[in-house]
Amino acid sequence: CCSIIGIISSKNVVAPALVDSLKRMEYRGYDSVGVATLATTNRISVRKGIGKVNQVNSSLNLTEMEGFVGIGHSRWATHGGVTDYNAHPHPCCTEDIAVVHNGIIENYLPLKEELVKKGHRFRSETDTEVIAHLLEDHYNASRDIKAAMLETVSQLEGSYAFVAMFANGSLACARLDEPLVIGVSDNAYYASSDVLGFLQYTDQAMFLDNRDIAIIDRDGAHIFTFAGEPVTRGVTKVAWELADVNKGEFAHYTIKEIFEQRTSVKAATYQEEHKIKVFCDTIAAAGNIIVTGSGTSYHTSLITSMAGCRALKKRFEPVMASEFKYNMDSIDKDTVVLAISQSGETADVLSATKLARAAGAKILSIVNVSTSSLARAADVSLAINSGPEIGVAATKSFTGQVSLAYSVLDRISGGRIGFDRDAVSDKITKMLAGSAAIERLVNVTMPKVNDIYLLGRSIHFPIALEGALKMKELAYVHAEGIAAGELKHGPLALMDKNAVVFVLNPDDKTYGDTLSSAHEVKTRGAKIIGISNVSNDIYDAMIEIPKMENELLYPLVEVIPLQLFSYYLALRNNVDPDFPRNLAKSVTVK
Ligand code: F6R
Repeated sequence: CCSIIGIISSKNVVAPALVDSLKRMEYRGYDSVGVATLATTNRISVRKGIGKVNQVNSSLNLTEMEGFVGIGHSRWATHGGVTDYNAHPHPCCTEDIAVVHNGIIENYLPLKEELVKKGHRFRSETDTEVIAHLLEDHYNASRDIKAAMLETVSQLEGSYAFVAMFANGSLACARLDEPLVIGVSDNAYYASSDVLGFLQYTDQAMFLDNRDIAIIDRDGAHIFTFAGEPVTRGVTKVAWELADVNKGEFAHYTIKEIFEQRTSVKAATYQEEHKIKVFCDTIAAAGNIIVTGSGTSYHTSLITSMAGCRALKKRFEPVMASEFKYNMDSIDKDTVVLAISQSGETADVLSATKLARAAGAKILSIVNVSTSSLARAADVSLAINSGPEIGVAATKSFTGQVSLAYSVLDRISGGRIGFDRDAVSDKITKMLAGSAAIERLVNVTMPKVNDIYLLGRSIHFPIALEGALKMKELAYVHAEGIAAGELKHGPLALMDKNAVVFVLNPDDKTYGDTLSSAHEVKTRGAKIIGISNVSNDIYDAMIEIPKMENELLYPLVEVIPLQLFSYYLALRNNVDPDFPRNLAKSVTVK
């Protein structure tokens, strides 16, 4: 969720780069922002406040701070309200050490009590501040940064990545179950939550392992385990093009990423032969397959499970990652857990795979970030190659995940789904060409509503859920995806003239039954928006989708108008679609 960045440069004043990095990572979390630099007087100076990076920068002139060493943070509040004091960096008492942190220190209260007894003065309500004071305590005793780091991490419980800046000009960082990567360029080192924090300066990255500590000074980066053993971590060249991180001609990342689906559904299927073969063989040989993910990636898990059952004639079980630990009974060495995640850093997904691994299961993953923790935790991981997804709402990653899952299932089943990447890409391109009609639907045709329902059966039900999720998070409208057959078991009571109901109804096996559901809600006065390849008088408005050869392929085109609708509804409701309130792109806390 939060973003951390630290930079040591031999050449440049670091504050502008810190601010730039925070902007690039702002999608991870963004209720307050702060920067600390080490000025030439060897004093650490801290500026921090509430708001987005640009706001805080313009009120506090962050980019004008002097110093060749610095740390920065954008915060998504967990412990302690959104206040200037609770924003990071947090200095220790003497202000000779300052810390930025992502994650949760579970035992911060007893640690804080102990430190207060020793005379430490706390200025915030955060769990993070204990790290600064612990480091101070141990550093004062030994004057040795490595010793202070080892002592500190031995006391911390929870999950964290933090970077500490010392008044002698060193940075020290540690990682436990939160991402942290070191960027290396000719004249600078970077410690960042995400490669996007330094990709504008260098594509050379060192991925720290869990329980790694790095101490960075002008001589280089020295890496140790939490046991104090020196280790080396290889330097990887990061492939993503920087250009991908700009909005280009688009007003927002979200709409840019929606349009990128023209090509990202194809990119998802480009896989190394050896890897995809092992991946497919593992699924084909599995006795028991569980597919897991969170949010949108869970909707992909539902689709993958339904399509897997149909294509391979064997049971796939979808389990929400956050529910996984309560559903462990059937997991054994014949189980394959397929974990799906855009970021590859979602805590619920990582913890599910850890538990499954401990119970003997094999782990496969589908990720967007190929260097992520989930990719590394899996026996085999395939990447969807969508490029960075900056908009908080998942869009291109969803269709990328479905495309990759379908090509895997086709490969195992000899083409039972019939996914053809070029044909799907063409159809998505046509859907996107109709975006102005969706914009009109939102701004002209649609009444102002508080409640939207989406009905679908079978493979369309996950799209009803996904469409509702997009409307909630992007436009802050209450929306609910309902399996159409369940209407009469309760939700019908909610239908009246104030409801708008999307009906996912192409002419496949579900057509007749879903049309009956549409009649049931129409009778109660609801407005109906049909999403179908065939028109019907019952629809007050209709969004036409192309005919698909196999009904399993409809999700890939049905979701497009729902993404567009949510985006334009966000604009109509004056919401910034890229940064929905209270949400973070990478949910690295459970
Ligand atoms: C929805 C959304 C979230 C994520 C969820 C999982 O638009 O973005 O629901 O899908 O937090 O994230 P990943 O896929 O990174 O594991």
